[in-house]
This record gives sequence, C-alpha cells and structure tokens, in this order.
Amino acid sequence: MRSLLRNVHTEARPLDLVTVAESALLYLRPRLEAGGVEVLREGLEQPAWIAGDADQLQVAVSNLVRNALEALRGSADPRRVAVAIGRGPQGVELRIGDSGAGIPEGVIAGLPLITTKPDGSGIGLFVVRTTVDNHGGVLQFGTSPLGGAEVRLAFPPLQTP
Ligand SMILES: Nc1ncnc2c1ncn2[C@@H]1O[C@H](COP(=O)(O)OP(=O)(O)OP(=O)(O)O)[C@@H](O)[C@H]1O
Ligand SMILES: [Mg+2]
Repeated sequence: MRSLLRNVHTEARPLDLVTVAESALLYLRPRLEAGGVEVLREGLEQPAWIAGDADQLQVAVSNLVRNALEALRGSADPRRVAVAIGRGPQGVELRIGDSGAGIPEGVIAGLPLITTKPDGSGIGLFVVRTTVDNHGGVLQFGTSPLGGAEVRLAFPPLQTP
C-alpha cells in the first residue's frame, strides 16, 4: 500500500487550491445535502496558487470532506463543515473543520491505516498523508472552532519567476 502510493507520479503544475476545494465540495454536494450539512466557506473568493497535482489533491480533499461528513452522522443540529483557505506561516493553508465529536483519542497515534468505522478502511487519511508529503506540504490535526476535528494542510506557495 505504502509503496504503491509513494510511487505514484505527482504532477507539479500551477493549480488553484480553491478550485480543487470547490470541485471536492461539488462532488460531495448530494451527500452533504442529504446529511443536512451546512458548508461554511472562508477565503474561497480569491485564488490560492500552489504547484501540484490537481487530481491527487482533489482525492485528498474529498477524503477529508467525507470524513467531516461522516463525523456528523447522528450528531445534533447544526451540522457544519468549514472549508478555509488562506496564507499562513507554513505557506498556503487549507483547513477543513466540522462540528462533530473530534478525532477519537489514539487514532492520530495509530495512523496510518486505522479506522473506527464499521465500513471504514483507514485509507482516507493515509492518502491525505501521502499526497501532502508528495507536495512538500505539512499536515496537522487540531480542533475546529466548530467544536469537532480540524485538519490543516499547508503547501509551499507557487514561485512566480
Ligand atoms: N473529521 C473527523 N472527525 C472525527 N474523526 C475523524 C475525522 N476524520 C478522521 N477521523 C478518524 O480517523 C479515522 C481514520 O480516517 P480515514 O479517513 O483514514 O479512514 P476511515 O474514514 O475510517 O475509512 P475510509 O476513509 O477508508 O472510508 C476514522 O475512522 C475516524 O476515527
Ligand atoms: Mg475516511
């Protein structure tokens, strides 16, 4: 699994992280709506350029939004997911937060390939980890202002000649 994903060729083309995030949200929109989840956007009005592989990043971001959505299963209203993009100390930052119960203790330490879901595989965050590594980025887990988990990805900004 590890070598399979590590050997994936990663493009390094200019891409807008906002477009990637919006594509992931569009892809998951039916499930977000069916789950009664409100999506909050912050900083998605202007482009955020990095160098990378748009397809791989879209898979990674979709995995994170899907995790957020799944964390809201059975939780009380309001069910919210927040997607924020902006410049931070570590580069171009993408934050995905939710109003769920947070990542259970022990899961972070057990990564990768750990799951607490009956139908889960633990591949989601493994793909996220590998994709961030392939882009020279930083991955962090924390608490969202919404009360649940917040996953932060930071990438080197696109160097313009
Ligand atoms: N937003 C979140 N809120 C709460 N727990 C989370 C969140 N994201 C991840 N987790 C925890 O981390 C575990 C690993 O996540 P990961 O995406 O790797 O696998 P999975 O979601 O269980 O399965 P898969 O993604 O393969 O369907 C989850 O089972 C869950 O316990
Ligand atoms: Mg998952």
